[in-house]
Amino acid sequence: RRYEQRIAAAARRAADRWAGYARTGDQIDLGAEMRHFALDTIWRALTGHPLDQATERELDRIATVVAALPQLPDGEQAGAAVAEDLARIDAVAHAAIAAARRHEDGPDGPGVLRVLLDAAELHPEYTERLIRDELVTLLVAGHETTATTLTWLYLLLDREPGARRWALDAGPEGSPERREAVQALVSETLRLYPSAWILPRHALTEDTLAGHRVEAGTDLLVCPYLTHRDPALWPDPERFDPARFGPGGSRPAHLGGYLPFGLGARACLGTQFALRESVAVLELLLPAFTVRFLDRPAGAVYSITVRPDGPTPVVLAAAV
Ligand code: HEM
Repeated sequence: RRYEQRIAAAARRAADRWAGYARTGDQIDLGAEMRHFALDTIWRALTGHPLDQATERELDRIATVVAALPQLPDGEQAGAAVAEDLARIDAVAHAAIAAARRHEDGPDGPGVLRVLLDAAELHPEYTERLIRDELVTLLVAGHETTATTLTWLYLLLDREPGARRWALDAGPEGSPERREAVQALVSETLRLYPSAWILPRHALTEDTLAGHRVEAGTDLLVCPYLTHRDPALWPDPERFDPARFGPGGSRPAHLGGYLPFGLGARACLGTQFALRESVAVLELLLPAFTVRFLDRPAGAVYSITVRPDGPTPVVLAAAV
């Protein structure tokens, strides 16, 4: 609730930009657009400032660093490129921390960064390095995943165009029925493409898992991507069907049958934030614009996130 206005402002800015593209008919990259929206949103939440062009240019490097994970590229040259990107990202983080220390809050008032700095005044163990780490973690975790999800959502709507109508027909603009249906689109997208598709866990003690002995110290990988496509849990699993998450839809009763935000003590800190920002922007974009893909990525890249394996060029038009 505290960040609702900032989310709404970023969503309006995205919709205004889309109106411009729809007027000119310019080709744009949908993935880049979604990254811009999600980065603007998290930047406003963290600092209180709307994202400016210079900061965006620097933070675009996050995508390059994330693409290089989990195996950082071999070779000195590639390593040096990532190190250079990280240094530039750090420079943005340290400048934002310094501005928050000087109480140069943005037009929306202080952000999460101020909460971290206030905590640091009481807790000496909150070092400058720790605050930088928290800030960069929130920046990275807080936008790539949401942007990728929104990009997959439009690719899935391109496959199942009826789903857009289904959501819009659920209720008039601003109604709880429409909001729930739009959220169902997001939930069903996260079922097919949970952007954090694989989650590491470390067994502290010996255990038994589904009849298998797990030694203490074993590293385990939990794979929501596979669980979400298990036909024993999800009938006709490959089909994009948001009605599964609508009223009367059938979903597995077991909590572990659907875990795009993980489970347990380390579950996603930004679950509600991510859902809220996705629904807020889609409530503006879905009724107002149609999206025509000029090319579709053939598949997915499975690295630290699961993302489309190519560019997503589109042309927008005002919906009639
Ligand atoms: C659709 C968007 C998102 C998805 C799919 C997603 C998914 C996840 C997943 C699967 C985890 C690991 C959970 C586990 O290991 O059990 C995680 C962790 C985390 N996420 Fe998200 N996330 C999203 C958006 C966000 C946003 C917007 C923020 C910040 C505002 C955020 C902040 C974090 C943080 C800080 C962690 C680490 C939590 C910890 O280790 O205690 N995420 N996320």
